Amino acid sequence: MARFKVNGVEHDLDIEPEMPLLWALRDELGMTGTKFGCGIASCGACTVHVNSSAVRSCVTAVSTVEGQEITTIEGLANVAVGVNPSAPDLAAVQQAWIDHQVPQCGYCQSGMIMAVSSLLARNPNPTNAEIDSNITNVCRCGSYPRVRSAIRSLANV
Ligand code: FES
Ligand code: FES
Repeated sequence: MARFKVNGVEHDLDIEPEMPLLWALRDELGMTGTKFGCGIASCGACTVHVNSSAVRSCVTAVSTVEGQEITTIEGLANVAVGVNPSAPDLAAVQQAWIDHQVPQCGYCQSGMIMAVSSLLARNPNPTNAEIDSNITNVCRCGSYPRVRSAIRSLANV
């Protein structure tokens, strides 16, 4: 049995405590916006927020997040502003992503946006070096320059 809060809603799930959070979200709660890529914490496709910090859910056992606040891409619109009033909200991030034509196939992008929103909530005006060291998500389509441009356009908005 595991109890945790996802996007503001408490859930009690009859699952093994070692189940990765990714599978609890996708298979038990039907939140398929969080993606599976590598399963070994390398790609970031599975990124969610735990207490506002970006976490790779494929290697996060549900037992380690009991009682904590989990946010997925499905709930980001409702919490991003509250984390840091000076950080851009999801609508601003989405518009920047459109303006800079960031998504290509799109598979990595929900994890990318979760990582970026966590970074901007902590640091609304990151340097290029800070972007590179914090946003380590893998994009097979090579959207990295566009991701950086979009982040730069969001800085201090
Ligand atoms: S699926 Fe979790 S980091 Fe790749
Ligand atoms: S947009 Fe295709 S993997 Fe990133």
